[in-house]
Amino acid sequence: MSPISTRRHGDVLIVLSNNPPVNALGHAVREGLVAAIEQAEADDAVKAVVILCQGSTFFAGADITEFGKPMQLPMLPQVVDRIEACTKPVVAAIHGTAFGGGLEVALASHYRVAVPSAKLGVPEVKLGLLPGAGGTQRLPRAAGVRKALEMATSGSPISAKEAYACGLVDRLIEGDLEQHAVAYAEEVRDVRPIPITSARDDKLEEARANPALFDDFRKEQARKFRGFDAPEANVKAIEAAIAKPYAEGVQDERRLFMELMSGTQAKAQQYFFFAERKASKIEGLPEGTQPRAINKVGVIGAGTMGGGISMNFLSAGIPVTIVEQQQDALDRGTGIIRKNYQATAAKGRMTEAQVDQAMALLTPSLSLDDLADCDLIIEAVFENMDVKKEVFGKLDAIAKPGAILASNTSYLNVDEIAAATSRPQDVLGLHFFSPANIMKLLEVVRGAKTAPDVLVTAMQLAKRIRKVAVVAGVCFGFIGNRMLIPRQTEANKLLLEGATPEQIDRVHVEFGMPMGPFQMADLAGIDIGWHRDPTRVETIRDALCAIDRWGQKKGAGFYDYDDKRRPSPSPKVQEIIDDFRSQAGITPRDIDDQEIVERTLYSMVNEAAKILDEGMAQRASDIDVVWIYGYGWPVYRGGPMFWADTEGLDTIVEGLQRQQERMGDDFTLSPLLARKAEAGEKFTR
Ligand code: 3HC
Ligand code: NAI
Repeated sequence: MSPISTRRHGDVLIVLSNNPPVNALGHAVREGLVAAIEQAEADDAVKAVVILCQGSTFFAGADITEFGKPMQLPMLPQVVDRIEACTKPVVAAIHGTAFGGGLEVALASHYRVAVPSAKLGVPEVKLGLLPGAGGTQRLPRAAGVRKALEMATSGSPISAKEAYACGLVDRLIEGDLEQHAVAYAEEVRDVRPIPITSARDDKLEEARANPALFDDFRKEQARKFRGFDAPEANVKAIEAAIAKPYAEGVQDERRLFMELMSGTQAKAQQYFFFAERKASKIEGLPEGTQPRAINKVGVIGAGTMGGGISMNFLSAGIPVTIVEQQQDALDRGTGIIRKNYQATAAKGRMTEAQVDQAMALLTPSLSLDDLADCDLIIEAVFENMDVKKEVFGKLDAIAKPGAILASNTSYLNVDEIAAATSRPQDVLGLHFFSPANIMKLLEVVRGAKTAPDVLVTAMQLAKRIRKVAVVAGVCFGFIGNRMLIPRQTEANKLLLEGATPEQIDRVHVEFGMPMGPFQMADLAGIDIGWHRDPTRVETIRDALCAIDRWGQKKGAGFYDYDDKRRPSPSPKVQEIIDDFRSQAGITPRDIDDQEIVERTLYSMVNEAAKILDEGMAQRASDIDVVWIYGYGWPVYRGGPMFWADTEGLDTIVEGLQRQQERMGDDFTLSPLLARKAEAGEKFTR
């Protein structure tokens, strides 16, 4: 049965799509739309058309699962052209999300009406693409050039209200969408000529008078666009809309679209779209496992992490009790939470009333006893096993039956922590990333005894607080931090062998990471986990810590920082490196960038393969989600596992073997990686 049906309402033909879950514009939908437009034209009694979608949303875009397969006609560009060419006025009635191809259908329609809660956007750039069904040509004509540039290159949607303000939507509908859309169609049924977006030029005039607008925009956005192909292609396509007649502009759009579609970046970004959605699925749980109710949360520790963790729940309207040992630490922690909210309000992204609302949900306390009525308690105290065990032992006596007890530990053994309680089935790791109120990743650490419903609760709760959760097993550093270890080990050795922090960091930044290993150390604080004995200097890091070079917070670390926190290479650090080198009897050599890639990035892939092999990650794509959302791995490379597949696993193995001698005992080749390379297999496809 076709997902497109029609029904008459007076002389208006309602074209209704029913293609759950998101009304993606798959082949049957495209075919049905063309047939419906033809039906409307053929029937003299029909005077106007309304396109409407059933379910939670208007068309949310092309059907991404069809990408990479042979396209069945009609293609979307033909469908939207057919809609625009309809001899009777067509009204798009929008609710939910009119995204990508969905917005292109709306743009080809002669009128657009929307409910105020609707969102309109062209997220193609996030899939490494551009709107390929006339969107880059019609959007600037309907919404203005600047708006089109912003929407197409960010992929972020705008609200129906914003769309109304810029002319993209003709009317906001309060009340029943179908009924009001039909009434609107009645109003415009006799208006001639029918307004055709592709024939409009009025909103292009301003940009035509100021063609420098495009280069200004490129400069302004350069940092965000760095490394990505798709944003520039979007800008070029919109530029063509200004510089060329519509018919030529769409040809440019098609050519640019095909170029992107055949590239690696689009494949990586589309792979990641599905990887993210797969991550929330847990293998091997009993069917129908129900989550526990979470209405109140406790957080222990109001330091760097405890504060940020609390904000996630407060922002989602969930009350939090936060516990510290001393009043001053408690005041400091809650003060920072308020300051963070106020900074958000100052940027206009929150109202003062919302700040007060969030803060009213927070109860500061100096007693663990106040956590007795919490459904979930998250511990974020010092990274020390004895301290954590003591806290969990106390919690065991305080928490109500069925409460979930979580640790935010970065590295420690969650099973050992769980064993400090009489209820290990209720214990798991919830590893947030810093800053915890901002970073999207949540590693859900599944202990040996963690109950299925505890895991299901954690995954569901992650969605509620807008995090992307990935399940990890119990091992040192779980998925993300464990992969940092070989990278840091090799980076440190490379320093001794002749590389500089600047060179190693540059290779990582050119690869697309937001920062390299030494920049990251300076940002996080070199002193984290340091033994705090300035007389015990065994490593370069010990030497830096001993002279107070703890990173950005001290104005000095692997780099020197000026008062605006701008880094520069440090002669002092070079001196320390030189000292260690001569003590170790190493003669420095020139190290090429490829060696840095092989020893720091290939060795991460090797560690990831071990993680997968040991079952510490459920699937290769989960590892990619961890590194993209937790550490800023460039999404256009699809994450470490997808990237390894792109490089070729035999290339990775060859590179690692080439470096084996230099990496020494720190390195053993993952048997899984070796097997897959040998068999010509991939991790992710
Ligand atoms: N094609 C195929 N499947 C899609 C899809 C699409 N465009 N969008 C979503 N889905 C699937 C998801 O994979 C998921 O499947 P699952 O249940 O099997 O895991 C299901 O629909 C529900 O999706 P979400 O879990 O993401 O549901 P949400 O309610 O959280 O979000 C949404 C809904 C906002 C529509 C979100 O899914 C989304 O942003 N989708 C992608 C939109 C997009 O990128 N559109 C542009 C496509 S490219 C294009 O149009 C090219 C054209 O210019 C030629
Ligand atoms: P922090 O030192 O900033 O904060 C810890 C807080 O816990 C302090 O304010 C301390 O007073 C309080 N505290 C200690 N014992 C307590 C007790 N018995 N009762 C109540 N409060 C107590 O440490 P941070 O950075 O917030 O780390 C906390 C945990 O989160 C650690 O396990 C750490 O490994 C982990 N983590 C840290 C990340 C980071 O980037 N800082 C990232 C992810 C996890």
